[in-house]
Amino acid sequence: MALARSESNVKYMGSKRRMLGNGLGELLHREVPRHSRFVDLFCGSGVVSWFVGNKSSNPVLAVDIQEYAAALARAVIGRTSGVRPYRLKSLFVAPAELACQTTPYWREAKALDSMGFCQVEWTGRARTLCGTAGSGVIFRAYGGHYYSPSQAIAIDALMQSLPAEGADREVCLAALLIAASNCAAAPGHTAQPFQPTKTAGMYIKEAWKKDIFSYVEKALVEICSLHAQVQGKTSVGDALAIAANLARDDLVFIDPPYAGVHYSRFYHVLETIARGQCGTVSGVGRYPPPAERPASAFSRKGESMGAFEKLLWSLSKIGCTVIVTFPAGECSNGLSGKTVATLAARYFRMERMGVDSKFSTLGGNNLLRNARKSIHEMILLLRPTRRKFGLSTP
Ligand SMILES: C[S@@+](CC[C@H](N)C(=O)[O-])C[C@H]1O[C@@H](n2cnc3c(N)ncnc32)[C@H](O)[C@@H]1O
Repeated sequence: MALARSESNVKYMGSKRRMLGNGLGELLHREVPRHSRFVDLFCGSGVVSWFVGNKSSNPVLAVDIQEYAAALARAVIGRTSGVRPYRLKSLFVAPAELACQTTPYWREAKALDSMGFCQVEWTGRARTLCGTAGSGVIFRAYGGHYYSPSQAIAIDALMQSLPAEGADREVCLAALLIAASNCAAAPGHTAQPFQPTKTAGMYIKEAWKKDIFSYVEKALVEICSLHAQVQGKTSVGDALAIAANLARDDLVFIDPPYAGVHYSRFYHVLETIARGQCGTVSGVGRYPPPAERPASAFSRKGESMGAFEKLLWSLSKIGCTVIVTFPAGECSNGLSGKTVATLAARYFRMERMGVDSKFSTLGGNNLLRNARKSIHEMILLLRPTRRKFGLSTP
């Protein structure tokens, strides 16, 4: 039942890919056919939505507060047939490769690629080149930091070359997001790029050597053949608001944030690519302005518990069946496995399962710290009770 390794995706903290082959996949296989729709309320990398869309004959609704996450999900659940990757290669990749050659600074960027500078001088010259001018949003915002100048020009050209609409656009955008994620000179996320220090400099060199076009082509091959059995939908918005409009027959999957830092801090580069633009960036992480970075009550220590309880209350009132995954221990957003299970038992009949998974420590500022560690993660299956809860929110 698990998705094959070749069906790769973005580098993602807390992706449920591993869990799909370790308990979660089996549970979904059993539960999904008993319901009329599968709702992935915090879809993230989209792997769970892809899995259910591809393996079941139920429609999927994938929701996330960030546009890029919905874009990743849509590339698979929005289609009921395969697409030919070679057609997209000539429609999307080849024109972008050509366009690069005529872009200002392409020559300088390529010359920098082939020079054996020391890391400090190399990144310094790259940052100066990208800081001086250039019209592309990725060149301007992230060139010399997450990407070499030539990689940044390539991503900008690919953004310009995206098909205007339809399944072609969705597949190409997802392939670009996956390539950009896998080529970024950063750990599993883009909160901060690697810096040209003695220890981290080698990671910049490794990342800047990657050919964006080859990564896009590889991702195209992988996504094109994947599709849903029944067409699904995506929605960009707050899970709390969307939950209020779900139906009794829905099977709702909840894999909420566990960090006390907004996800938009870690994935703003992908969000910029999905939106096609961003304002003036600042800080070591090259963050877009706060107004462009979605914030969530689930990532605020003082609000996460209230938000989680409100979500469960809302779904229990409708009568939905719910699957929750959450780390068993204490998390930095103030929730813990224990609190999550206690709240769940208040509103549902609960079956508890545990699996060993891997999840991200959300590495903080120490870029060389091992960003993933083993952790005990729980799966809760929540069935509606006959008890009626009051109309007022908890
Ligand atoms: C733990 S991740 C989900 C990982 C996902 N299940 C996977 O396998 O990749 C949590 C996700 O919730 C999203 N999120 C945070 N707050 C949200 C909210 N209020 N409504 C909808 N999505 C939200 C984040 O953007 C992030 O993608």
